[in-house]
Amino acid sequence: MAEFDRVWVGARLCTMAEGLGVVPDGAVAAKDGRIAWVGPRAALPAHGAPEVDCGGAWILPGLVDCHTHLVFGGNRAAEFERRLAGATYEEIAREGGGILSTVRATRAAGEDELLAAALPRLDALLAEGVTTVEVKSGYGLEFEAERRMLRAARALGEARAVSVCTSFLGAHAVPPEYRGRQGDYAAAAAAMIGPLADEGLVDAVDAFCERIAFTSAETAALFERARARGLPVKLHADQLSDGGGAALAARFGALSADHLEHASGEGLAAMAAAGTVAVLLPGATYFIREERQPDIAAMRAAGLRMAVATDMNPGSSPARSLLLMLNMACTLYRLTVEEALLGVTRHAAAALGMADRGVLAPGMRADLAMFRVGSPAELCYWMGGNPCIGRVVAGRDA
Ligand code: NIG
Ligand code: FE
Repeated sequence: MAEFDRVWVGARLCTMAEGLGVVPDGAVAAKDGRIAWVGPRAALPAHGAPEVDCGGAWILPGLVDCHTHLVFGGNRAAEFERRLAGATYEEIAREGGGILSTVRATRAAGEDELLAAALPRLDALLAEGVTTVEVKSGYGLEFEAERRMLRAARALGEARAVSVCTSFLGAHAVPPEYRGRQGDYAAAAAAMIGPLADEGLVDAVDAFCERIAFTSAETAALFERARARGLPVKLHADQLSDGGGAALAARFGALSADHLEHASGEGLAAMAAAGTVAVLLPGATYFIREERQPDIAAMRAAGLRMAVATDMNPGSSPARSLLLMLNMACTLYRLTVEEALLGVTRHAAAALGMADRGVLAPGMRADLAMFRVGSPAELCYWMGGNPCIGRVVAGRDA
């Protein structure tokens, strides 16, 4: 008799192990928070554990939102109205608005306030089947405020049944007190890595490499510091212009390079060679009306793994739905359903360096997302509405 804690039956599975990995009449068994067995129900070994009948629902690995800025103060609805009247995202940023206006609101907020503001945004993601979420700092831009953001991110993981992965994004913008001294601020941000990592607040180091943010040289110096500390890196790369971000990320063996609307073919090829995941953020392309799209054909040709995320943030992508991002990735970028779903499961886990999730396979964490849909394509097809009927985190109903 097999030793399981719990078994889900009467389900249709997307294991995501090879492509969608569809199992029409499937079963999943959990033991000690991990998947102990998965496959066709007819082959399920004899066991004495309680069975949950899923009534034909689809089960996928718990969804992974691998790029968010969930923790921040205030919002930028007023800036949105200015953009509707003709101002561009970049113009507003250059005037000291944009990211810096969120920095003002975030610096003014205490840790509890940041947590309280972030929770409803997190809950919206969880309601759709997310079980792992990445959260960045980057609206503090001074040690204590960056620390508060990262502590609030960790607190989110305590308050809800979800794995939170933190990225230190101190190099997101130059704060007002360093105006005209960008290099000094880049060095100051690099110096924050050690103390924040000492507190266990940093799982990865991220940066915004862009003509309105940091140069390649400043980003490289920051990445050297991360490397010395043994931390993986990720990069906001080539979002508004081609600054060689994709190639830079590849040079440092980054877990991911994100956005990539303006990335060059060489940059994408370098990423593929380095095993760097391409994180696609269609909400940002849409919301700032960026005309250029990431070169999906080149990504496919290079054999890049593509992930899809919300980029949930107040300025460029106030997106509280990962399922809507699936629709946008398919509609705007022409991803296939299989590519989009891999993008919020297996490839999203890879973008976070997490080898224990994103796939339904023995040994993986028993993180499941259950959906009342007729086919996997429906997860990408509907715009709005929520077909998620259950979440399991480490083997337990969540
Ligand atoms: O991922 N590109 C830089 N950072 C965010 C936007 C942040 C903001 O506008 O507040 C992004 O798009
Ligand atoms: Fe971002």
